[in-house]
This record gives sequence, structure tokens and C-alpha cells, in this order.
Amino acid sequence: QSQKTRALCELAPVIPVLVVGDAGCAQGLATALVSGGLPVLEVTLRTPAALDVIRAMAQVPGGHVGAGTVLTPDDAKRARDAGASFAVSPGLTERLARACEDIGLPLLPGAATASEVMRAMELGFSMLKFFPAEAAGGAKSLKSLAGPLPQASFCPTGGVTLQNAPDYLALPNVVCVGGSWIAPDADVAAGDWAAIETRARAAAALR
Ligand code: 3PG
Repeated sequence: QSQKTRALCELAPVIPVLVVGDAGCAQGLATALVSGGLPVLEVTLRTPAALDVIRAMAQVPGGHVGAGTVLTPDDAKRARDAGASFAVSPGLTERLARACEDIGLPLLPGAATASEVMRAMELGFSMLKFFPAEAAGGAKSLKSLAGPLPQASFCPTGGVTLQNAPDYLALPNVVCVGGSWIAPDADVAAGDWAAIETRARAAAALR
């Protein structure tokens, strides 16, 4: 499982975190992001339209669409059935780990402390989301975890921006970062795909 999420995380330096309220936006948004060089997309299950958005984005060539904010086994099943090729969670429970394994859905689980990282590794996960990255101490905190826990790799998410992303990407235990800055609500609502593609291009050039 972790090998699959790691391979996805290696495809681009940034995974855009998407909160989309209207499935009609999905194709245009995903196309702009993939064209801009960000093929791995996280659609948060935080809007009623999220599963329809995943369904539509999964049709866009070159994209790898995952579901974010996956909290329960039921979330994981609904995401998989909608065509998500991976799941992202802010944390990890044994039930969620087992459910994702049972349905063959690669999971990127969240961890923010040494104990959470150790527990995730016990459950078989070595590719983790460091969440909430900035609030949990940022790049400095993650750098400290690399000493005692070098087997764990991370996608820091939460407060990551174009400005602070290089600090994370310079760390040996960071594979990519996640963030919502690439597709802000206003641009998505306005359908300003050109602006989003420009931001994606800048993000893709981070490494
Ligand atoms: C998430 O929603 O998973 C991340 O917290 C996104 O964080 P950001 O909005 O600070 O990029």
C-alpha cells in the first residue's frame, strides 16, 4: 500500500487539495491542474458534490484522482466506488486501515507526532501525510522526526504555501507537499482555469 502511495507522491512536488462544490467545475479544474504539471489530485469529501467531482475528474487523461478527508470505512468505499485511485486521511484508525486494505485502496494516512508515526508504521504505513504541517511545527518539526524515524516519508499538508513549500521539499523525509493554494475557491467558482494552470505550473517547478 505504502509503495503505491509513495509512487503517486513521487509524480509531482505538490498534490493540490481541492474543495469543490460544483461537479460542473470538475473537468475544467482537473484539466488545468494536469496541464500545469500536477497529475495527482486530492478531492476532499467535504462537499455534497465531492463524489461526483471524483467521478468526473477520474475521466481526465493523465490524472490520478484521490479522495481526501477519508475518515471512515464507508468514506473509503464510497470514494473507491466513485473512481478514486487513492485515499488521504488527516489521521489513522485501525478500522480505516483495514477497510482500505480490504478494498485495495492505497491510503495516505495523517500523523503529526512520533507516536502517531510509530503507530502508522506498525499498521504498515511508511508514506504519511504530516498534518497539520504548519501548526504542528512546520519543517523544523518534520526535520526532527527524520532523526529517530528515518523509515517514514511524508507529504506535509496544512498551511503549506508556494513560499514555505521549498523548506519542506528540501528535507530528506519529504516526498511532496499538499495544499489548497493552487486552486482557491474564488478561481474555482469563477472557472478561471488559466489562473489555476499558472499556479500549478509554478508549483510543479518547485523541484
Ligand atoms: C487539507 O484540507 O487536507 C489540508 O489541511 C489543506 O490545507 P491548506 O488549506 O492549509 O492547504
